[in-house]
Amino acid sequence: MHKHYLTTAGRSLLACALAATATTAAAAGDAAAAMAKVGTCVACHGADGIGKAPQYPNLQGQKAAYLEKQLRAFRSGERKDSNMNALARPLSDADIVNLSAYFEQLR
Ligand code: HEC
Repeated sequence: MHKHYLTTAGRSLLACALAATATTAAAAGDAAAAMAKVGTCVACHGADGIGKAPQYPNLQGQKAAYLEKQLRAFRSGERKDSNMNALARPLSDADIVNLSAYFEQLR
C-alpha cells in the first residue's frame, strides 16, 4: 500500500507527479486510486470538476479536507441531499480520501 495522503508532503508530491505525468497518472497513488469510483461523480460534477449544471457544485481544486468532511456528512446523513446521500453511503473511508484528493488536484 502506498498511502501518502495523510501528509502534506505526500499531497504536494502527488500533485507534482500528476502534473508532470498526466497520461500515466494511474501509477501515482491516492488520486489515481479514485479513478475506479470517480466515473459516477463526473456525470454531475464534470470530468474537470466543474459542475455540469447550476445545481452541481464545482469541486475542482477544492481543499481535500473540506471535500472529505462533506462526503462523510453526506454518508452519515448529517448533510442532506438525496443524490449525494445515496452516492456517499457505499463509499469507504479510503474512497472518500481518494476521491477528495482527486478533485483537489484538478486544475
Ligand atoms: C446526480 C448528480 C450527482 C452525482 C452523480 C454526484 N454528485 Fe456530488 N453533489 C451533487 C449535488 C446536487 C450537490 C449539492 C448538494 C447540496 O446542495 O447540498 C453535490 C455536492 C457534493 C459535494 C459537496 C460540495 C461542496 O462544495 O460542499 C461533494 C464533495 C460531492 N458532491 C462529491 C461527489 C462525489 C465524490 C461523487 C461521486 C461519488 C458525487 N459527488 C456524485 C450531485 C451529484
